[in-house]
Amino acid sequence: MGVFYLKKDRLHLRAPGNWMNDPNGFIYYKGKYHLFYQYFPYAPVWGTMHWGHAVSEDMIHWDHLGIALFPTKDYDQNGVFSGSAIEREGKLYLYYSAVKYLETDSENIHVAPGDHYETSQAVIVSEDGYHFDNWGDKKKIIPVSMDEEVANRAHTRDPKVWRDGGHYYMILGSTYGEQTGRVLFYRSKDALAWEYVSQCRSGQFGKILECPDLFAVDGGSVFIGSPMYVTEDGMEYRHQAMCALADYDAKSCGLKLKQEMRLIDYGMDLYAPQTNVDRDGRRVMIAWMRMPRAVETEGESPWRGMMCLPRVVEVRDGHIFFRVHPEVERYFDKKDIGESRGRSPEDGVKEDASKPEQETGNKSLTIPCRLRTVLEEGRELNIGGYRIWTEDDAVWADRSKVYAGIEGYRLTGSTPKLGGRYELEIFVDDNLIEIFVNGGQYVLSHVVYGIGGSVSERQR
Ligand code: FRU
Repeated sequence: MGVFYLKKDRLHLRAPGNWMNDPNGFIYYKGKYHLFYQYFPYAPVWGTMHWGHAVSEDMIHWDHLGIALFPTKDYDQNGVFSGSAIEREGKLYLYYSAVKYLETDSENIHVAPGDHYETSQAVIVSEDGYHFDNWGDKKKIIPVSMDEEVANRAHTRDPKVWRDGGHYYMILGSTYGEQTGRVLFYRSKDALAWEYVSQCRSGQFGKILECPDLFAVDGGSVFIGSPMYVTEDGMEYRHQAMCALADYDAKSCGLKLKQEMRLIDYGMDLYAPQTNVDRDGRRVMIAWMRMPRAVETEGESPWRGMMCLPRVVEVRDGHIFFRVHPEVERYFDKKDIGESRGRSPEDGVKEDASKPEQETGNKSLTIPCRLRTVLEEGRELNIGGYRIWTEDDAVWADRSKVYAGIEGYRLTGSTPKLGGRYELEIFVDDNLIEIFVNGGQYVLSHVVYGIGGSVSERQR
């Protein structure tokens, strides 16, 4: 069977064959957005981690560049885990967690039996963001911790690095005794030699906190993280990406949450987000959309995992907004849709139809598309089998018709109460629907399989 890997992606970055998870090293560097991601190149399941690499000028059209980082050292022999990027003196520094298994399964070398492994932190420096010498340019920067009071030996990972004043700072996700999530702070003058500064444990960080991120926006600090084991309804997924406003003192690396953590996305598929500043200085977030099974299309390698649309993080009146990035709006404003199938937008539902049924009737769906509507209480929108409605002052969605045969996963989702405003902006792609409510007040996104048919609106 001929199998080929994707060379290009549009709108949503997908695994170019096989498995993708977290976004890594997301940065605007020398005129391009670089996005790396956790990648297992041999099968559509999680395994020994590599960093895949894609670049883009607009975060909409992506060119896949193959594998950037892969295990070469004793300390990273079992995985190049998640991390982040900075630019320093024109060079690209990629920080990552290096994993070494302490025990192996002789029948599957790609997983660690009983999570028996250890983790150190490492960096690789690239001159241009395209060439990575995995043998010559890696350096271990924080050794495995043997002191539980400082850090957990296995579960200390996902370095996010930034510059502030004359120093570089790193936040790491960790756990205290695999019972309480915590984050650790390190500081450096040259981005290579790091000293431990402080840590913050919290009952809100789950049992293990993954992929922490901390940044200033609109005069306040936002903390983002992915706490593990936080849901209790017995459904997948138990780990969720969450956010909260925080008080942060840069001098002492003192972190205190100012509010309860809340979901970043109410579809609960989104995980492990990462942010950075975009070309224009906005804070932009991208995240992994978890998929329970691979998509298999004739002539393509099976692929599993993709990225959500880039979202701008803003704080207004004490609320964290995730609004769709202006590049996405620009893409749809240019009516650059429908081309991939050799169809024009006019063949499908009118984009921006404010009342799809009244204005366009029951129209066939052209993917990808953007729909804008105000969905009053009691109204229901049906997008190719995916249902969205407003009830009890919240927006609800049900994917049961387009997620068929998948057991144990949540089929419905709903936003918190909305205060009577139900302005929806919906982005529909083959395997992902993203609903931005009231300009990013809340977002609800669902992975789907087999979306298609038509769009209509009715009274419930
Ligand atoms: C989050 C995560 C990270 C880790 C990576 C491994 O999804 O578990 O904490 O670095 O994925 O692939």
